[in-house]
Amino acid sequence: MKTVITYGTYDLLHQGHINLLKRAKALGDYLIVGVTTDNFDLERGKLNTHDDIIKRIEAVKATGYADKIIIEEYSGQKIDDITRYGVDIFAIGSDWEGKFDYLKEFCQVVYLPRTEGISSTMIRSRESVKIGLVGTGSIAGRFIPEASKVESADVVSAYNPDKKSCAEFCRRNGIAPQISFDALLASCDAVYVASPHYTHYQYVKASLLAGKHVLCEIPFVLSTSEAEELLSLAAEKNLVLMTAHKTAYCPAFRHLLSMVKSGIIGDVVDINASVTTITNEMSHKMDSRFSGGSFSENACFPTLPIIKLLGADYRDLRFYSKMKNGVDIYTKALFVYDNATASFQVGLGAKTEGCMIISGTKGYIYVPAPWWKTDYFEIRYEDQNLNKKFFLPYYGEGLRYEIREFISSVLSKGNVWKLLSDKELLAMTDVQEKYLSGESLIRLG
Ligand code: CTP
Repeated sequence: MKTVITYGTYDLLHQGHINLLKRAKALGDYLIVGVTTDNFDLERGKLNTHDDIIKRIEAVKATGYADKIIIEEYSGQKIDDITRYGVDIFAIGSDWEGKFDYLKEFCQVVYLPRTEGISSTMIRSRESVKIGLVGTGSIAGRFIPEASKVESADVVSAYNPDKKSCAEFCRRNGIAPQISFDALLASCDAVYVASPHYTHYQYVKASLLAGKHVLCEIPFVLSTSEAEELLSLAAEKNLVLMTAHKTAYCPAFRHLLSMVKSGIIGDVVDINASVTTITNEMSHKMDSRFSGGSFSENACFPTLPIIKLLGADYRDLRFYSKMKNGVDIYTKALFVYDNATASFQVGLGAKTEGCMIISGTKGYIYVPAPWWKTDYFEIRYEDQNLNKKFFLPYYGEGLRYEIREFISSVLSKGNVWKLLSDKELLAMTDVQEKYLSGESLIRLG
């Protein structure tokens, strides 16, 4: 019996896949098809597969050509599969010509003719979401190359009341400058709000009222009543409203949360995290007139794991801020829960180690700096032999993960699990509002 093996993503199964599977099957008597997991595709830089793995497996099964379907989840697995299943022929489309010659040591390698004129990418790109940017600062500049890595995300235009810098930004990035916010709204399906914090509320509200989906930079808005109003407006109008919290969407951070929630370090007793970024005193980030300061700039990051893992029912919350020119150049926050404590340090005018430690009754998790761009973490125990290290990809600036989630959500009409729930977002906004109110804030000279 001759065994053939082939691999693919098989997203939105099309005629090209069917022809390939038919040809592969004809090479032998028994065909094994490896379907790649979303995580493996992510590692290969493929973002935004349309169908989940179950759907893709079902689609391959329905072709009737596969005698066995397996899941491909790690690099190097092909060699393991070939030896394990006694494979005689490895077959793949001619777009991979030469790439799998290294498998010739283990079996025959056949590159089959690819069907012209069709691919999953082509089908996916028929659906595109036109994005307009409000604000043309540094984060908007990083957003554009990141969005280009996400299929169906098409950044078309930008608006900034400062017309000269808007025109210059658009020229550099090859997009259309808009002379007014209304013109921006007319040019797109979705708005990415990357303007100064204190303007978020008005831009998000106007975008939603105009029927546009919104991805808003953090901190979202400055009060829970504003956040509630915007979230219910989005729900009422059936629009996606998401915050661009890059840490919440990055693969390693999500993995870390799931592991902690599954009890791998026992009950969480304490969380400590810090984010400090020394910033020029003249920057608007350090200007009290623009709601600047360390808390406004950085607190969204450490608040995330605290709210996600310990919830919003803290008994006490206190802040200690070192002030200069009316803004906090360094702030420490201390949360007290019934069964745990949590704290964080943020700073624009002071520096400390940017790591995160989540302590539990069985062990702890250590994420080195910069933990908010998580790509690596360690689980550590009393018995060091049990320690484990985890690496997951964090490509580029990491914005592509939130953009992918946003685009998937828009295309599926909000039908995806929100990785940052409305409840969590409101709890995080509430922490921000408590700080801004000065309640429980001790100012240090
Ligand atoms: N394939 C083919 N003809 C096509 C498209 C794909 O023969 N027109 C083959 C590929 O060469 C591969 C298999 O089908 O052997 C699975 O490929 P996959 O990457 O899942 O499909 P694509 O449509 O190429 O996906 P994408 O556009 O996301 O790269």
